Amino acid sequence: MADQPAAPSLLARIARRTGTPVYVYSAAAIAERYAAFTAAFGGYPHRVHYALKANSTLAVVRLVRALGGGVDANSGGEIDVALRAGCEPRDIVFTGVGKTPAELEQAVGIGVHVINAESLGEIERIDRLARASGRRAAVALRVNPDVAAGTHPHIATGGRTHKFGVPLGAAADTCRRALALDGVRLCGLHVHVGSQLGSSEPIREALGPITALAADLAREGCPLQHLDVGGGLGISYDGSDAPSVTEYARAVIDAVRPTGLRVIAEPGRWIVGPAGTLVASVVDVKDRAGGGRFVVLDAGMSELLRPALYGAFHRLEPLEPGPGTPVACDVVGPICETSDVFGAERLMPVPAVGDFIAIRDAGAYGAVMASNYNRHPLPAEVLIDGDGWRVIRRRQTVDDMVGLES
Ligand code: LLP
Repeated sequence: MADQPAAPSLLARIARRTGTPVYVYSAAAIAERYAAFTAAFGGYPHRVHYALKANSTLAVVRLVRALGGGVDANSGGEIDVALRAGCEPRDIVFTGVGKTPAELEQAVGIGVHVINAESLGEIERIDRLARASGRRAAVALRVNPDVAAGTHPHIATGGRTHKFGVPLGAAADTCRRALALDGVRLCGLHVHVGSQLGSSEPIREALGPITALAADLAREGCPLQHLDVGGGLGISYDGSDAPSVTEYARAVIDAVRPTGLRVIAEPGRWIVGPAGTLVASVVDVKDRAGGGRFVVLDAGMSELLRPALYGAFHRLEPLEPGPGTPVACDVVGPICETSDVFGAERLMPVPAVGDFIAIRDAGAYGAVMASNYNRHPLPAEVLIDGDGWRVIRRRQTVDDMVGLES
């Protein structure tokens, strides 16, 4: 698996040309991971709808599209980006816990493949919109299976008290009511238990009752066509064993096969996470009380929020390490927040000001979660493709940033 997006020397060459901070993605790694994911499902009828929320830079979406993927959009903005990247409405599933009237109108109007509905109220709103325009909208009901995802609490979504979907106990009744509406066509069930799952167990646990529900509905004559199993397959950020995609696909297929339903899968992180690196420059090095050094970068929580928000671990690699003996370094960003730390007590030869540091596995939930905090312009993004590379999103300027203000 091409987990390393590029040789350090290439990353350093790119960073010298574009400046830092810069996100660098490998098209080959994305393609390889996409192929491995879909291959894991073998001949079982399925479609991969890549979760745009992980990384929706146009060139990345075009690449996934070219590989044959559909997308999972979580907002009107993501639907729009998908269309601009060349997706057809039938390539789009529309998910989201709070869809606005305008977003629902957009999704119904273009006729997305399916809307993953979060409540009976939402299904009724879709019904009204569809009937008003003489259409019938395809919907799937998102079911909350009440399982523990065993991941960071901020990104576990399948617990009873979480805001997502309809409780399992209310799902059958909600489906029956949906079946009575002329403006919607209930065609599936949807579940997503959480992200960065360390094993397939939570998926297996969730799919048991949901496939039983699908079988009950089938007996009642409800013509479901698919089961959308969401995303969530985790990756290894620290080099330890990652869950296997083969085992994950087997868990899904074992559960779904008896229903005969087609599978929709919405992987995000697994496809793009390891394919991306954030390259930053060292702007200061100083002693830390109690020993070790602070290594201050020009990227911080404004460029990559995951460490500050979830205490997430990312490997940090000097691209051109000096010869010194490794020293415990707190690698931090420049933002005025104490949580702006990429890694505490990381052993590395003390870098010099101007050195490049690679922050690995930043392809998912990196650039998409960047902000202008402390008036940092959004970073540039680069795609390495074949023998070459190109800027796929230029660095934002302060003019771009203040251009919306009066
Ligand atoms: N489908 C649904 C309905 C989702 O809510 C998500 C992620 C996915 C698919 C894709 O999940 P993935 O395969 O990427 O795990 N910002 C956090 C992750 C938030 C995930 C939100 N939902 C992070 O940086 O870890």
